[in-house]
Amino acid sequence: MSNKVVKSLELFKKAEALIAGQTQLLSRHPSMHAFGVSPIYANRAEGCRFWDVDGNDYIDMTGGTGVVYLGYCHPVVDAAAIAQIKKGVAYPVNSPLEIELAELLKEAIPCAEMVRYAKGGGDADAVAVRIARAYTGRDKVLFCGYHGWHDWYIAANLTQADSLNSHLRPGIPSAGVPASLAGTAIPFAYNDLPDLQRKLEENRGQVACVIMEAARYLQPKPGFLENVRKLACAHGAVLIFDEVVTGFRYSRGGAQEYFGVMPDMATYGKAIGNGYPIAAIAGRSEVMQAVSTSFISSSYWSEPASMAAAIAIQTIIRNGDVIRHIWQMGERFQEGLLKLGKDSGLPLYVEGLPPVFHFGLKLERPGAYMTLMTQEMAKRGVHMIGGVYILAAHQPTDIDAVLAALREVAAVLRKAVERGSVEGLLEVPEARPIFRRRLV
Ligand SMILES: Cc1ncc(COP(=O)(O)O)c(C=O)c1O
Repeated sequence: MSNKVVKSLELFKKAEALIAGQTQLLSRHPSMHAFGVSPIYANRAEGCRFWDVDGNDYIDMTGGTGVVYLGYCHPVVDAAAIAQIKKGVAYPVNSPLEIELAELLKEAIPCAEMVRYAKGGGDADAVAVRIARAYTGRDKVLFCGYHGWHDWYIAANLTQADSLNSHLRPGIPSAGVPASLAGTAIPFAYNDLPDLQRKLEENRGQVACVIMEAARYLQPKPGFLENVRKLACAHGAVLIFDEVVTGFRYSRGGAQEYFGVMPDMATYGKAIGNGYPIAAIAGRSEVMQAVSTSFISSSYWSEPASMAAAIAIQTIIRNGDVIRHIWQMGERFQEGLLKLGKDSGLPLYVEGLPPVFHFGLKLERPGAYMTLMTQEMAKRGVHMIGGVYILAAHQPTDIDAVLAALREVAAVLRKAVERGSVEGLLEVPEARPIFRRRLV
């Protein structure tokens, strides 16, 4: 078969010389996909599809790395952003859209008495952690899961180089992060209350905040989140839920509404802007007011075109239809995957709630088999890794088309499993593990 991604590969060759680290986001690095077969560069997208620079089109099951939520080029969202672009993307003073969006976020998010904006999820987490440190006058952070690239978080790997292994991925380097931050970011294990309790005790009076995703792929054990809430209170630490992924997906009020546990602050990115660069921090007024006791300020945080997009999104999801649809499409896909596992005899598992979940193969070297899956799906016009984000633009016909392609691919995987090796079938290097985030 002739190579379908020739132009992508040519561009990547140029990037190797021109772009430090080749891509801006690790998850968009081709080594995370089937390098040589998967698309690397795209120049158009619409609904749940995108077109690569070679002119191939794909159904996207990765949600554009999670930043797309309704679908690519959503007409109402784009119209709102374009209308604002025509009125100006920057002013010397503030845009009233900040207030309009804040009112909508306050209506949607249980803990939101006040909000603040930023540009990306990691950005929002860094702001929330700074606010918590300012509010408590303490330095240490207990965390679980992935929270971006900033110093406060990557500092976890200074004390022990493998601290982030089960929260992000193995091999995260920490060069450039001041050594003096060692010991300020301490990981705890998800669903392990005694671990959190012990670490709070060991650092009594020093912990500014506990920051975590309320759930990712693993779901909370009964009482876990409620007890995290109680422990944070008992130790005078601010509880922050990172809702960069769960926000507006699990429910309009995110994971905190879905699980009925209220944090002091929560952070939002990705779905909040459907691809437009906007993020938010929401929380209790008393805590949020501490923003003024530190220096937290940036030119683009009030950029109004992305705010207009976010307002349009909030208006669209208000009646719940979009979130219901995303759940239904996710359930359809999960059921299809599990049936496929049964029919094919592949040891396929699914983890997580339908809007955003992970599937994989319980095999000895799962990475090689999953790379084979990504390779074969790319050949069949589907961009897919183990992490799945459902878009509102996915229709039953799209989900069924992906499952039909996957049924063909299951035959290839079956062959590999029977042989006990992907050799002769895998045409690309094994993908580097994408964010692990199982939090175990
Ligand atoms: C839970 C969580 N927090 C923070 C981030 C960082 O967001 P961004 O890449 O927009 O900085 C991510 C990104 O994947 C995430 O999944």
